[in-house]
Amino acid sequence: MAGLRRFLISGSGPRRRCPGRATLRSLPRNKSRLRGRNLPRTRGVWGGPASPAFLHCFPPPEDSMPAPLIEFRDVHKTFGAAPVLNGISLVVPEGQTVVVCGPSGSGKSTLIRLINRLETLSAGEILVGGQPTSRLSGEALRVLRQEIGFVFQHFNLYGHLTAEENITLALRKVLRWRDADARERARALLRRVGLEDKADAYPEALSGGQKQRVAIARALSMRPRLLLFDEPTSALDPEMVGEVLAVMRELAAEGITMMVVTHEMGFAREVADRILFLDQGEILEDASPRDFFHATRHPRARRFLSQLLSPLHTAEPA
Ligand SMILES: Nc1ncnc2c1ncn2[C@@H]1O[C@H](COP(=O)(O)OP(=O)(O)O)[C@@H](O)[C@H]1O
Ligand SMILES: [Mg+2]
Repeated sequence: MAGLRRFLISGSGPRRRCPGRATLRSLPRNKSRLRGRNLPRTRGVWGGPASPAFLHCFPPPEDSMPAPLIEFRDVHKTFGAAPVLNGISLVVPEGQTVVVCGPSGSGKSTLIRLINRLETLSAGEILVGGQPTSRLSGEALRVLRQEIGFVFQHFNLYGHLTAEENITLALRKVLRWRDADARERARALLRRVGLEDKADAYPEALSGGQKQRVAIARALSMRPRLLLFDEPTSALDPEMVGEVLAVMRELAAEGITMMVVTHEMGFAREVADRILFLDQGEILEDASPRDFFHATRHPRARRFLSQLLSPLHTAEPA
């Protein structure tokens, strides 16, 4: 894990350049020290510049708050006639770790899948880096997706590719990197998630926790500005949950913006800046971990939390 910080700071392989932008080298490394400070807007962990389509090279005024990286404006989503998200408005500043929880079917996956357009919204708008995304297509949509890493519950690794090949695929095919550069980056990423020795392993030879760490390395390969996680540990055996959460905790500490759908309340308490509780397509709670756990406002959220924390006490008799 110690390698993670080194990689995030130094990076490897080709970089896009943008004069006049701060790099991580010039910033405090600890996220808690970053909070509340008037920092120039940067890509945080990557220290590199943003892609031209979304992340313009205009620093905000010196005394401004961190710019919103994601903004939902009255977002609605229906599947057929069924409403799934009912007017979501939400601002996520750069650098935040936001945990999203709520009952099954409440719209959590849909909420984060809309951000990188794995789903299309029915009404409203989602802005990423200040840019509306609902009408993007072609190259612009590809650039948006490059900025956003997505980690799925069931890993979604290609079974016929090794761990390294799963990571290099997008670098070679989308960014047209040379093989040697892509391999170097993949090795560095595998080192970062503690799997340096698994570069040549196929997914079937990896444990669930290892597969998910490869999937995280793959999500990091394009140096995303935002990471989305959809229940990244819920398909894992309990003893493997910790190794995945530890990688995620390091990423959060480095300052990359993350939205994490999870019911790992220990992670939420320790790592999240903010917890959203979703029910029937609406955000019923949007609170700091402290308030969420100790001053839960909505009865539905209170009930959900007590079911999660002590399921035996709240279970209905069969
Ligand atoms: N592709 C889809 N087609 C039709 N209905 C869907 C689709 N995806 C999700 N839904 C429905 O939308 C609702 C919310 O789903 P989802 O966002 O996956 O909830 P969660 O992640 O909170 O469990 C559910 O009722 C689900 O059945
Ligand atoms: Mg889901």
